[in-house]
Amino acid sequence: MNTKKNIIIDCDPGIDDSLALLLALQSEELNVIGITIVSGNAPASIGAQNALKVLELVDRLDIPVYIGAEEPLEVPFVSAQDTHGEDGLGDSQIPFVTSSQAKANAVSFIKDTLKQNPETTVLALGPLTNIALALKEDPDCFAKVSRFIVMGGSYLSHGNCSPVAEFNFWCDPDAAKFVFSQNLPIPIEMVGLDVTRKIVLTPTVLEYMKHTQNKNIYRFIQQITQFYFDFHWAHEKVLGCVINDPLTIAYLLDSTIAQGFDSHVEIATSGISRGQSIVDDHDFWQLPNNCHILTNVDQTAFWHLFLTRVLKAEENELSQVLPQLLEVRA
Ligand code: RIB
Ligand code: CA
Repeated sequence: MNTKKNIIIDCDPGIDDSLALLLALQSEELNVIGITIVSGNAPASIGAQNALKVLELVDRLDIPVYIGAEEPLEVPFVSAQDTHGEDGLGDSQIPFVTSSQAKANAVSFIKDTLKQNPETTVLALGPLTNIALALKEDPDCFAKVSRFIVMGGSYLSHGNCSPVAEFNFWCDPDAAKFVFSQNLPIPIEMVGLDVTRKIVLTPTVLEYMKHTQNKNIYRFIQQITQFYFDFHWAHEKVLGCVINDPLTIAYLLDSTIAQGFDSHVEIATSGISRGQSIVDDHDFWQLPNNCHILTNVDQTAFWHLFLTRVLKAEENELSQVLPQLLEVRA
């Protein structure tokens, strides 16, 4: 009997999206039914090619990739190629995949797959344009979804592309507003900057990866993150890089890794608060809770999961080395 969790990953690869894909693809509990691509870190056509590069790396080109929305619902598209490189993978110039191609119609794939596969989990790691379009075309397509885990937004943490907005919700604020306003049958599990900022790939952790079994995976991670390291130092004087997206996968694999609370959340769409996730934590509006917001994360548990699954780090060695690797971030 297939006891694996069926998942769809909607993403905008993207350096940290690629790390999230690696974690999902290296986790036996998960069956990645398909990967859908949205414009965000890079245009969707580039993101699709990057998803194929990750699939080729782990010999999983059997998993289909679908290209979705090239533009946000209403605002002009603004990428994050200043952070992720023109190629969306840190200008690593990893060769194009020629043995497989992405398909079109990501939105149709999402709708049809969710209808045909009850209890599928949806993970959204980019702007919510594809998800919004699927719900606009078929408002009931999430009726049988098991979980909906979203990297996006922030509660008390400051924004990363404005004082108040996180990139995924800023890039397509109308899509985010629409998705959060749909009274979905399940809560939106919001993995926001409050917790993802504590997941930092440091030079020390990267150096440890070099000594693990999966050398080809290490080389890929090293290649795609150097650009990201330089950006984080230049803009935030952080040595290393925040890797947001993999926490969504880790949280799916082990929900004890992070904790939060339920609340009503709405997304601002214009002006200086464009993309802000407004959390009604004092219930001013007396509206139903639509979101579970994560506020605490166990960094050690995350890195243990990531390093053992993706780099095949040896459990006993890792237990000894992890305290040396991690600086506890306040
Ligand atoms: O704000 C961080 C998020 O925006 C991450 O998902 C990153 O990949 C970008 O999509
Ligand atoms: Ca992303």
